[in-house]
Amino acid sequence: MQVKLFHGDYKENQMNIAIIGSGNIGSALGLHWKNAGHQVMIGVRDRNTFKGKEFADIHSISIDSIEKATQTSDVILLAIPPMAISSVITMMGEVEGKVIIDASNSISSKPDSYPTIYHVLIDKTKADIVKCFNSTGYENIINPKYGDIAIDMFMAGENQRAKDIARILALDCGFERCIDIGGSDKVQLLESMALAWINLAIMQKMGRNIAFKILDR
Ligand SMILES: NC(=O)c1ccc[n+]([C@@H]2O[C@H](COP(=O)([O-])OP(=O)(O)OC[C@H]3O[C@@H](n4cnc5c(N)ncnc54)[C@H](OP(=O)(O)O)[C@@H]3O)[C@@H](O)[C@H]2O)c1
Repeated sequence: MQVKLFHGDYKENQMNIAIIGSGNIGSALGLHWKNAGHQVMIGVRDRNTFKGKEFADIHSISIDSIEKATQTSDVILLAIPPMAISSVITMMGEVEGKVIIDASNSISSKPDSYPTIYHVLIDKTKADIVKCFNSTGYENIINPKYGDIAIDMFMAGENQRAKDIARILALDCGFERCIDIGGSDKVQLLESMALAWINLAIMQKMGRNIAFKILDR
């Protein structure tokens, strides 16, 4: 896959993308990416019963096993609960050379012995990994526009190629920018941003139609 750095011509980049975890987050991203012209395949444990089945049927998105979806894709989105990561790594098979985007949050549970899924992936795979699409509610991924303003997405991690791809895919969803908040040492900060959003939206009762945006001058 040839992926150029973003200079305004990102629409030229067509990718094969596997969605592992087709719930709220995976379905929202999968639909944007299909509409942007990417090849999207959902990887599931059981084709007869999985979250997002109706969504996949309505939008004619291909379904296959987690292994097949992974092996036929260049980019893999993980939108799964943290505790699922060990079995998902086994089901995906070899991922060296592929980009994995971790959209999870280890808020109510954590992967065994690791702070986040990102850290498990770094330790146990040779994929190019980035943390992205975790810092806001799925409603903001379905629709990143507030009137005329498009909100920002955020990402963290060490791998520049993975970040270039996450940025392209964030713009494909309609986010104005995908702001790089730093390396692996900022991954937990990015999960804390999600926690800050959850606090405002739910605990402080502001509702889920709120979002973060960086202003500059
Ligand atoms: N909801 C949000 O607004 C939001 C925002 C940002 C980040 N996140 C994070 O994104 C992740 C997904 O959240 P969600 O709201 O999209 O969850 P969800 O709607 O409950 O969907 C979870 C998905 O994970 C899959 N899954 C669960 N256990 C699995 C396993 N052992 N192996 C393989 N797949 C498994 C489920 O597949 P089956 O249907 O086959 O069980 C389902 O597709 C979580 O880490 C969450 O913290 C959520």
